[in-house]
Amino acid sequence: MTASKGLAALLLACVSLPCAQARTLPVPDQRPTPGNEAPPLPIARAAYSTPVNYLLQCAGCHLDRGQGSAQNDTPRLEGFVGNFLKVEGGREFLVRVPGVSQSALNDQQVADLLNWLLDRDGMAGSSTPEHWQRYTAQEVGRLRSQSMLDLPKVRRGLIQALRAQGIVIDDGLRH
Ligand code: HEC
Repeated sequence: MTASKGLAALLLACVSLPCAQARTLPVPDQRPTPGNEAPPLPIARAAYSTPVNYLLQCAGCHLDRGQGSAQNDTPRLEGFVGNFLKVEGGREFLVRVPGVSQSALNDQQVADLLNWLLDRDGMAGSSTPEHWQRYTAQEVGRLRSQSMLDLPKVRRGLIQALRAQGIVIDDGLRH
């Protein structure tokens, strides 16, 4: 292909791309299918089960079994996340990370989700201490509104405290 033909092809691609995208948008006078007029319920009011809430709100980043993703700097929850309950400040941290505190779930749903994740029969497995206190909606409500201004620093401090206890940091991250 000559240089001028290549340029023409590029220009054509640039010009036609926005149209191609525009065609994927709903038309302004689009109507719901008959019988399906009710607007969808927000997730905080929909009564999905906790595992479904996890899939809808968390698995996009942490993956379906909580494997995490090093490429996206997303920590593994599976077999690891319960360790945070072993150090001071860790319990609060688990509610205050943005993925949790800013999720679209209500306080009770967040409490149920964390309790489900941390269950020793669940994702966290034996990383969770044998005796631990389950979260309540009240506790979640109090903690989630306290934003964390320097998350990496808080996390580093917690990881350091865990290492000091001889705990191996198996969070799947590269650093
Ligand atoms: C947009 C991607 C994303 C979503 C969605 C997300 N997380 Fe996260 N999560 C992260 C990242 C990245 C971290 C590491 C700390 C940080 O940078 O926020 C993290 C940290 C955490 C931690 C602390 C564990 C650790 O090792 O630091 C927990 C617990 C957690 N997430 C649970 C959840 C839950 C539960 C949900 C769903 C309600 C969720 N996350 C949704 C990306 C996400």
